[in-house]
Amino acid sequence: MHSWPVFLLQLLLVHGLPQADNAAPVRLLYEYPVGTWIENIAVRSNGDLLLTVLNVPHLDQLSPYKANATPETIHSFPNALSVFGIAEIAPDVFAMAVGNFTLTGGVQPGSFSIWSVSFTMHDTMEAHKIADPPQATFLNGLCSLPGIGSPKDFLVGDIKQGLIYYVDTSTGDYGVAINNNFTAAVSDPVFGTAGVNGMHVHDGDLFFTNTGQALFAKMHIHTNGTPAGEPTIVARVLNSSMEFDDFAIKDNDAYLVTGSGNSIERIGLEGTSKGRIVAGSLNSTQFAEPTSCAFGRTEADRHILYVVTAGGLATPVDGDVTVGAQVLAVDTRLWLS
Ligand SMILES: *[C@@H]1O[C@H](CO)[C@@H](O)[C@H](O)[C@H]1NC(C)=O
Ligand SMILES: *[C@@H]1O[C@H](CO)[C@@H](O)[C@H](O)[C@H]1NC(C)=O
Ligand SMILES: *[C@@H]1O[C@H](CO)[C@@H](O)[C@H](O)[C@H]1NC(C)=O
Ligand SMILES: *[C@@H]1O[C@H](CO)[C@@H](O)[C@H](O)[C@H]1NC(C)=O
Repeated sequence: MHSWPVFLLQLLLVHGLPQADNAAPVRLLYEYPVGTWIENIAVRSNGDLLLTVLNVPHLDQLSPYKANATPETIHSFPNALSVFGIAEIAPDVFAMAVGNFTLTGGVQPGSFSIWSVSFTMHDTMEAHKIADPPQATFLNGLCSLPGIGSPKDFLVGDIKQGLIYYVDTSTGDYGVAINNNFTAAVSDPVFGTAGVNGMHVHDGDLFFTNTGQALFAKMHIHTNGTPAGEPTIVARVLNSSMEFDDFAIKDNDAYLVTGSGNSIERIGLEGTSKGRIVAGSLNSTQFAEPTSCAFGRTEADRHILYVVTAGGLATPVDGDVTVGAQVLAVDTRLWLS
């Protein structure tokens, strides 16, 4: 009876995996009021989503499993207007960049600080400042290093200076770790000047986007974040309607948000194949100016890509449509390969 398994396999190959009737690849978990810009997302090991807000100095938390999930503001940073990149640096401890930016006035160089927020004390959250780098002009992307320390040291990019700082979490010391042609800032129609933006370390390589140069690059690094090779380009944007911002990595693919492209692009990390748009489209508000994305971390949602948006505040959809910032759950199993 060995032919049955083969037959079942063929059936699966032809008809795909069984799907629930109401299965939809994209679910809107929450839409904020118009005027809200969610800048970045990190996922806690318990499954909760941490969202950094750009138009107010808030760190919000959203539990994606609850029906009618509503975000809760769990911290408001003093003496600041905005929160940017966020990354986990120890189990349930997150570092984030905080500073002043407004859509009308732009960025205030010198207003930046780096904070950590810890959930390890029996669910009472503790926030403390790690560093106050006065020479930083616009800290944006942030990623932890794979080193052995806990909390781990991390990298934080300056999108306006076009370079990447190394930050020692235990001392608060920092210094320039990476500064090359592909992190460099160039003039950008939306942000004035823009360079290195999203950053993630994967298998000893630092992957990063450069928004102004419209490219996605990688570079081998040492465990302390310093270069261990030359940077190379993985991909450039598919067309000029798109801007690379942050991204997530899973199974040797990167999932990049395209900002003004209102979509998600998937591309192999080797850079040998062309990227393709797997969700959203240029003139749709389904993903209105996505800024960042991250995969779920529990058994139940490892295949879910959570996407956050700026609602088209910097680049309106269709040229003139803005919506509230969105938090979306994308079931990547339901995407066509
Ligand atoms: C950020 O902007 C606010 C409002 O203008 C101001 O009160 C605050 O001092 C600024 N923060 C820094 C670190 O300059
Ligand atoms: C890239 O940077 C190097 C220095 O690291 C410089 O010599 C070279 O001219 C730069 N190339 C371009 C295309 O800007
Ligand atoms: C850019 O690419 C997207 C996705 O493939 C497409 O919908 C759009 O029409 C393209 N825009 C231009 C200007 O080519
Ligand atoms: C789609 O959006 C682009 C960019 O905002 C805009 O220039 C274009 O006119 C829109 N196209 C349509 C068919 O609405």
